[in-house]
Amino acid sequence: MKKLKILFENNQLWVKSKMEKDPEYFIKTAKDQLPNYLWIGCSDARVPANEIVGLEPGELFVHRNVANLFPHTDFNCLSVLEFAVDILKTEHVIVCGHYNCGGVKAAMEDHQLGLVDNWLRNIRDVYATNRQELDQIENLGMRYNRLVELNVLQQVKNICHTTIVQDAWRRKQPLTVHGWMYDLESGKLRDLGYNLSSIEEVDPIYRIQRVKP
Ligand code: CO
Repeated sequence: MKKLKILFENNQLWVKSKMEKDPEYFIKTAKDQLPNYLWIGCSDARVPANEIVGLEPGELFVHRNVANLFPHTDFNCLSVLEFAVDILKTEHVIVCGHYNCGGVKAAMEDHQLGLVDNWLRNIRDVYATNRQELDQIENLGMRYNRLVELNVLQQVKNICHTTIVQDAWRRKQPLTVHGWMYDLESGKLRDLGYNLSSIEEVDPIYRIQRVKP
């Protein structure tokens, strides 16, 4: 049986380097996690959440899937969000997309890839909603990268439409949902300037509240 020796060797080196700086490092980290941020990013191997923002283990709660989607019926996404907001009390939820996202590109093409096409249908919906703007961009590369941005904005909205976020806002818990982009070629992050932190910023059709008994 082939074992992945190199990864265990890397692990040993990593443990050693952490322990050299702080012999108590793992004892402290094992105690609890106190992340103030939830990161929802793409599974793409070139977008390593913690590394990009320079955060240590315990500082960033992470959920990654193909094309950083947050479909409102996905129990995986909803469970992560609920735990982050209700239990960990994270103050920031960050949806981070990245230019040249393969998932978004696949959603612009007309051939089947498999099961993932059903997942990427969410991005086709984003295209359909923004068809007028997108069809006007003649350069295909630019159109594709704009769709990556619009997809991030839609996922920010989807998160803000959940009962989880709206309940948190109604009980005055500080919580902001951010839309960011990561550029693979420069390594830089960009804030799309779409940061929602109150129910008033949500389209009224999506505002819902508990009925008092
Ligand atoms: Co991607």
